[in-house]
Order: sequence, then structure tokens, then C-alpha cells
Amino acid sequence: MLTTRLDLDRIRVARRAIDPIFLDTPLYECDALGRQLGCAVSIKLETANPVRSFKARGTELVTGLLADQGRVGVVCASAGNLGQALGWSGRRRGLDVTVVASRWAPAAKLDRIRALGAELELVDGDFEAARERAAGIAQQRGVRLVEDSLDIETCEGAATIGLELADRTPSFDAVLIALGGGAMATGVGHVLKTLAPGVEVICVQPAGAPAMTRSWHQRRVVTTDSTSTIADGVAGRYPIRAVLDDLLAVADDAVLVREASIVAGMRMLLERAGLVVEPSAALGVAAILEDPDRFAGRHVVTIICGSNVDLDAYHRWVRS
Ligand SMILES: Cc1ncc(COP(=O)(O)O)c(C=O)c1O
Repeated sequence: MLTTRLDLDRIRVARRAIDPIFLDTPLYECDALGRQLGCAVSIKLETANPVRSFKARGTELVTGLLADQGRVGVVCASAGNLGQALGWSGRRRGLDVTVVASRWAPAAKLDRIRALGAELELVDGDFEAARERAAGIAQQRGVRLVEDSLDIETCEGAATIGLELADRTPSFDAVLIALGGGAMATGVGHVLKTLAPGVEVICVQPAGAPAMTRSWHQRRVVTTDSTSTIADGVAGRYPIRAVLDDLLAVADDAVLVREASIVAGMRMLLERAGLVVEPSAALGVAAILEDPDRFAGRHVVTIICGSNVDLDAYHRWVRS
């Protein structure tokens, strides 16, 4: 019996509350990528939507609830993608959205947060400093703090990806999920372990931001003092205990990949699949590149979870 904070019936209901523009994203086998990687690779494309990441699945749920409650404001800390998603969903519902982010987050993400009408406050520290500041703002203003991965709606939103994967026939052998705070991995993992328990759920994190992966292996919260990775979307340092508990229940493995593999994955997704992705979205391909024998001859799904990237940096990476 699978015990997590999530519930399949609630996830099915959640699917109906999300703007369809974020749902039923393409899922297709990419032959050219598979040939190069030595296994069948299917792509679940979460970038062809107005915020270019999966995060709006969750913000649609949070903002829908807030609007129903007659609330007017909401604040979140963001590495860049949650803030865009909250900006998009909040604006549609007339909410005042405040996003706190690191000054060093990719400019493309910060620009888009502003363009979506959110108030953007920058902090000098990293994502964890932004989390602290967002909590302070929520307390001062008495507005709802959206805490990614801790708030159940953020996990349920991401879990709807799992429903779409579980609908797929024939099924596949493994799914590779970028791991940051853990909303996506716990959400998708919960659904797959319930509806398609034979599918191996593998979380992937950069070796330069390993806190949640180390926590998963040691079965206790392990924090780090710093992060060093180009995969800014998954660069947290303080895993949340409740999310770790869920992850322990639904993930079969959590692996770390090198920066060079992430870059190679981005390049391969461009050359073989015609996809411009941000580093976090290349983690799955990076995991196959680092351990080809594990995946040889199997059918693997990788979730392409974001494509908000600074173009200068992107060009540098894919050309190097
Ligand atoms: C592109 C991208 N991939 C992966 C993640 C990690 O997702 P989670 O925090 O749900 O683990 C994020 C988080 O914002 C993201 O923006």
C-alpha cells in the first residue's frame, strides 16, 4: 500500500481544474535520440505552453483555490519557473503575485516573471535565501505563501503528468525525472507506482546540487552549504522532510550526473530532437549518457520539463 501525501482521486479532480493549455502535452518516441543513446527514448514535452515549463499545472490549482476563497495576494520564492507560472495563473484570476528570486537567476526567467505582471523582488543570496524572504513577505502582508513541493497542490499539479504517462499504451520501462524540491518526482512517482507499478521511477539531480538525492540515499534530510550547477531549476540546498518521505515511497532510485553530461544532453536534444531546453530538462538524457548499460534495450521516458534559458549561455554550452 502506497502511503504519501498524495491521493489519486484528488489528482484526477485536479486535472479538471487546470487550464487545458498545460495538459495532454506531446508524448512521442524520438528515434534519432534513441539510436544515439542505445535505448528507446520517449519525450514528454512540457515546454510547449505559455510559461515553457510544467510548473503551471500546480499554480493553476493554487490560484484557483485562492480565487475561490476571495484572496487577493500570493507570494512565492522561485528559481524562475514557478514564478512565471504563478504570474500567468495569478494574473488570469486577478491576484497580486509577488515573486522572490535570486539576483543571479537567468535573466530570461526574471524578465518573463516581470512581463507576466508579477512584482519581482530580488535577493542577493541563492534560492534558499529567496525562500526565507518570501516567507517574511507572506507574514508581513498576510498573503498566501506558495511553497513548492511542500504545498500539496504543487505536487498534485505535477502529478497530472503521471496520469498522462500512465494512459500510454504500450507502457514503458522507466521514467527519468529531474529532481529539485521534489514536486514533480513525488507527483509523477505517486501516480505511476499506483497505476503502473512496473515502471521504474528514477530521479536525476546534478552532482553539483545533490541535497535531495543524498537525502534519499541516507533516508534523512541532508543539506549542503552551496550548489554549483548550470541546472538552476533544481539547485536547492534544504530538502523538505515531508517531500523526502514521499520520495522514499515512490522513487526506485535517485542518481547524480556531471555538468559535462548535462551539457551533452542539451546538445543532443538540440541536434537529435530539435529541442532547445534549459539544463534541468537535460538531466534525464544525462543520466542515460552516464549509465548506458542500465538502459540498453529498454524504453525510457524523459520529461522535458523546461526551456527557459538565457540564449548567450545556451549558445556557449551547446557550442563548447
Ligand atoms: C525546468 C525545471 N525542471 C525541474 C524542476 C524541479 O522540479 P521539482 O522542484 O518539482 O522537483 C524545476 C523546478 O522549478 C524546473 O523549473
